[in-house]
Amino acid sequence: MTSSASATAPPPITDAPQAPRPGPVAGGLIEAFLVVRGETERRAAPLSPEDQVIQSMPDASPAKWHRAHTTWFFEQFVLGEHCRGYTPFHPDYAFLFNSYYVSAGPRHTRGERGLITRPGAADITAYRRHVDAAMVEFLGRADAATLEAVAPLVEVGLNHEQQHQELMLTDILHAFAQNPTAPAYDPSWSFPAPAHAGEGWINLPEGIHTVGHAGDGYHFDNERPAHRALVGPVRLARNLVTNAEWLAFMDGGGYETATLWLMDGFATATREGWQAPGHWYKVEGQWRIMTLGGLRAVDPNAPVCHVSYYEADAFARWSGKHLPTEMEWEVAARGHQLNDAFGVVWQWTRSAYSPYPGYRAIEGSLGEYNGKFMVNQLVLRGSSLATPAGHSRVTYRNFFYPHHRWQFTGLRLAEYD
Ligand SMILES: [Fe+2]
Repeated sequence: MTSSASATAPPPITDAPQAPRPGPVAGGLIEAFLVVRGETERRAAPLSPEDQVIQSMPDASPAKWHRAHTTWFFEQFVLGEHCRGYTPFHPDYAFLFNSYYVSAGPRHTRGERGLITRPGAADITAYRRHVDAAMVEFLGRADAATLEAVAPLVEVGLNHEQQHQELMLTDILHAFAQNPTAPAYDPSWSFPAPAHAGEGWINLPEGIHTVGHAGDGYHFDNERPAHRALVGPVRLARNLVTNAEWLAFMDGGGYETATLWLMDGFATATREGWQAPGHWYKVEGQWRIMTLGGLRAVDPNAPVCHVSYYEADAFARWSGKHLPTEMEWEVAARGHQLNDAFGVVWQWTRSAYSPYPGYRAIEGSLGEYNGKFMVNQLVLRGSSLATPAGHSRVTYRNFFYPHHRWQFTGLRLAEYD
């Protein structure tokens, strides 16, 4: 990197993006691009420059970093590789805002992102505007062959940015949860109302089902190839596990009973002092939960949230039940039988995050996007309250390490004869 990120004057900023009468393909791409880019800024709007610097743990990233990294993604993989004559906004930014793409060059240490006070939030706003304008201009004048080549990259970039939109909220919530004054990201925020219609259990008889993504619509490479899987007989809980059920687990000594837990899980729970889900605090004898709306009473009817795989697994064992596999979840969700499959909490499955049969990562740098993480993590299905609109799919495979619990993660149970 160069010697001083702060001393180098940024290139002049162009005005707000204006589409130069593009054709329908470019027009659609530009519109989608501006909608997603705008949503990131909408989510960042309640955050002060100070809020945007903080990194409350190595797994979380500063909001400013999310805004910059998603911008770097377009600069690196679209403009840098396909827009002749494009000059990066700043020579340090590729180093600062590359996340884990080894093939895209050296990068800053992940756990030290919160030490970067410069460039500041306003510099990142300028960076975003610069790249937005360059992208709109580039797409607007691209010929058909260029558009065909870059459209999939733009789509990946937009879906990537939507993933970071979710992380922006979970990461700032974790940061605010460290603050004794429990600031609210959005004082008017409320937890989604859970659905409770229908019978308690969904019966899936034994059958061979096609799972994974088979259509032409957008998907990540880890959702393919579609393939056949034997599922059932199994019953899946129609509803998510609630806080009331979790409180019963806690009252029943769930967190203290080693025999309910995986060995790694109990070691983690002991080391971390877990006695309740993440972001739960006991205030004057009452459990409260830190939310995007600040510190709130735990609603017994709401789905439990911020639990790790280890906790979900222990809860299932305590219940005499199981966690479903991702295939069982997908078959039930395809049948529209699950309440709150999407938009409330990601649901842990007991499936290891591993490649589907015949999976190959996509060619080039973006092959690093998913494939290299396919070990030691567990699959979560559905989506959460923080997932942006249009980003959920029945084949979507989210993945986290089993101790992670700062995302909006919960569970539903399975049972077998
Ligand atoms: Fe990323």
